[in-house]
Amino acid sequence: MSATLELFPATKPLKGVVRVPGDKSIAHRALMFSALAGSGEVSGLPEGDDVRATIRVLSTLGVTVADGKVSGTIRDPRGPLDCGESGTTMRLMAGVLLAGGTGGELVARGGLASRPMERIAEPLRSMGASVETTDGHAPVRVRAAKLKGIEHRSPVASAQVKSCVLLAGLAAEGATTVHEPARSRDHTERLLRAMGVALEVGPTSVTVAGGQRLRPVPVTVPGDLSSAAFPIAAALLVPGSEVEVEGVGLNPTRTGFLEAIDAMGADVDVAVEGSSGGEPVGRIVARGGRTLAPLDARGDLVVRAIDELPALFALAAFARGRSTFRDAAELRKKESDRIAAMARGLRALGVFCEELPDGIIIDGDPDRALPEAEIEGAGDHRIVMSLACASLRARGRVRVRGASAVDKSYPHFFADLARLGG
Ligand code: S3P
Repeated sequence: MSATLELFPATKPLKGVVRVPGDKSIAHRALMFSALAGSGEVSGLPEGDDVRATIRVLSTLGVTVADGKVSGTIRDPRGPLDCGESGTTMRLMAGVLLAGGTGGELVARGGLASRPMERIAEPLRSMGASVETTDGHAPVRVRAAKLKGIEHRSPVASAQVKSCVLLAGLAAEGATTVHEPARSRDHTERLLRAMGVALEVGPTSVTVAGGQRLRPVPVTVPGDLSSAAFPIAAALLVPGSEVEVEGVGLNPTRTGFLEAIDAMGADVDVAVEGSSGGEPVGRIVARGGRTLAPLDARGDLVVRAIDELPALFALAAFARGRSTFRDAAELRKKESDRIAAMARGLRALGVFCEELPDGIIIDGDPDRALPEAEIEGAGDHRIVMSLACASLRARGRVRVRGASAVDKSYPHFFADLARLGG
């Protein structure tokens, strides 16, 4: 796909059924935990760059993944562990290395090189591991050590930090507890339990006792709700649309986006239809045409919708009135500074917004038709897809620079949009 893509306004309603790529968070964990268990079978793996990075790192550690079959046990790496641009790969893998009794040098490409790594290094050091960052960033060098359990109070609600520390805790003497300011996504807890690990889970804390072994279980990865947010947002923005997303993960620690659009008065039906690997799975139907109410999003809701906030910003631009998002400072530390990137993109599309240190204020207008524009995707898949959804309501052509960033999580996003009629 060319780096700059031309988008045109939707001329007819979006209609159809989509299957989004498998959930990245669950896929990384299924692969890594299977490697710790010595074998596994994972179906529904997404094709994006991030999960490919996890597979590449595992292969450097002597674990092969072929057609979803994971085989081999983690051993000392044959070279640097190339995490690509995947933050989840790098942060969880630091814990996986220690759980597997080895070490390694975790290296980054692109924007990952400037994302914060002390948040994992510091608790791992207090467990007794030797972990060096490079001025707080990648490369991160981890050396195997005898570990002891700790009680870690994470200043941020981060499933990557929580998972990294709990994984190291599996190899520690005694118990390891992670406390968070709000409960982050709990895929690690669900999958570890499915693999026979005993955990004590409180409202905002998790404890694991060291010395437990993982038992392989087959995992079917459901569709990624974070990717589903885009065809859903697109449907809500084009009157007369009806889009169904099937086979999508509906873990309640991830459904803040659905709660938010419900609060905005969107016409959406959600049905849980089964479960896989301890994760609820179902379908979502979204219909366009209703005028959306503005949103006031803060606190826990923001944690449960963290990756979908850019899509909510795009929707807020078309709500009747002013939306406010707070408690979202973490959004500045993702693949891009997503608050700044969305403010820039929405302004280029004629939307008034005001950046706050921990959020954004967006003035919505349901009758808005966006001007022709050239916008910057900031090298960030979720910024590209959010601005592309907004562009369905433009008066003319919108050019998106860096549109190929979608390959990170949803390589066929533009093909899906075109198939639905956008
Ligand atoms: C993820 C956790 C979140 C999320 C990221 C995936 C995970 O990051 O934004 O896309 O799989 O654990 P943080 O842990 O930094 O909040």
